[in-house]
Amino acid sequence: VSALPVHLLPHTAAVGCDGRLSVGGVDLVDLAEEMGTPLFVYDEEDIRLRCREALAAWGEGVAYASKAFLCKAMASLVRDEGMWLDVSTGGELAVALAGGFPAERIVLHGNNKSEEELACALRAGVGRIVVDSFDEIARLEKLTGGQVRPAVLARVTPGVAAHTHQFISTGMDDSKFGFGLNSGDAVQALEHLRSSSSVQLVGIHVHIGSQVFRVDSYARAVEVVARLFGRFELSELCVGGGLGVPYVEGESAPSMGDWARVVKQACETAGLPPSVRVTAEPGRSIVARSGITLYRVGTIKELPGIRTYVAVDGGMSDNPRPVLYGSGYEAFLPREVLAERPRPARVVGKHCESGDVLVADACLPADVAVGDVLATPVTGAYGYSMASNYNKVPRPAVAFVGGGKARLVVRRETHEDLIRLDA
Ligand SMILES: Cc1ncc(COP(=O)(O)O)c(C=O)c1O
Repeated sequence: VSALPVHLLPHTAAVGCDGRLSVGGVDLVDLAEEMGTPLFVYDEEDIRLRCREALAAWGEGVAYASKAFLCKAMASLVRDEGMWLDVSTGGELAVALAGGFPAERIVLHGNNKSEEELACALRAGVGRIVVDSFDEIARLEKLTGGQVRPAVLARVTPGVAAHTHQFISTGMDDSKFGFGLNSGDAVQALEHLRSSSSVQLVGIHVHIGSQVFRVDSYARAVEVVARLFGRFELSELCVGGGLGVPYVEGESAPSMGDWARVVKQACETAGLPPSVRVTAEPGRSIVARSGITLYRVGTIKELPGIRTYVAVDGGMSDNPRPVLYGSGYEAFLPREVLAERPRPARVVGKHCESGDVLVADACLPADVAVGDVLATPVTGAYGYSMASNYNKVPRPAVAFVGGGKARLVVRRETHEDLIRLDA
């Protein structure tokens, strides 16, 4: 029955005396009218605040993980805020460069980087490459031919549980990522990289998973990789991303500062020299809460004794997380943000799948009606970036709001876009 927990809304969210929600000084119901739905709306100031928090907590070298959300405007915002940028494919690298992101602050990731992706990164002069496999080392050595020596970190799989969903847990021995510590691969890779004339080994990277609430898991990861630092004379440790964020009422997460403090303390306890640069790559915790998705309600079906279905004009194509991980979200009406929500309903999309669920157990105001703008908060991460064209549904537009203005940063796809790749 309770109203929407307002801590799930972005920093500049404000409720007018008419009960309507504005973000960045822009009324969201009006914005939906103007730009159409579904629409991803990002609070620009909120993103900037998170970037500043990350820099204050970790210092120089902390990177934004662009897989959470990337477009040219986002790349230039992150550039201006002074963070580095983690890209994990040639596509993310291309968008980052197109957005004017300086290559020397880009970190290239990927468990299966192609020769072409590596060549592009070398040509651009990316700041770091996180090496993930022996095949990649061979590819890199072939490409550089001893001419350039890119700075590399070895991605190590520390065998540490992150206590999160198995699909986003990456630090265990059974993982497609990195070099296993327990198998001996990590030491073998580090020995090879240290003696290679084609690369300059600078450090170790560990990423234990995503949506992690227990920051002591990071301390454990630091503990297990610490002994490698003296042995290989390494100067950088990146603990990856993964800091969890609250999505629904009742959830709370450690802050960026808590996370950095626990990791830095663990580094000290493990005896890492203070000269080692300790960084991270948050994605979700930078943009999740900054984003809200606006949909239009198209039909409401009451199934007596079963449930109410509220169908909106998007769905699993703009937010696949509920289908992939069973993730929970809140839903509310921006026209009456603080209204009580006594009406249980399942918010579903427009796709041809019964599993096309956005909010399995939503609570909505009693008067929700066809034509309403319905919003899901905390959808700034892994929504647009995981969006698809399933059922040939065009991908939504993305707007940044701030200072009383909205600017379109990614336009809505059209039906022409849907056939532009057809031969
Ligand atoms: C290597 C690496 N770094 C950073 C991240 C970002 O994680 P998050 O968005 O949970 O902070 C990921 C996410 O999968 C990742 O694989």
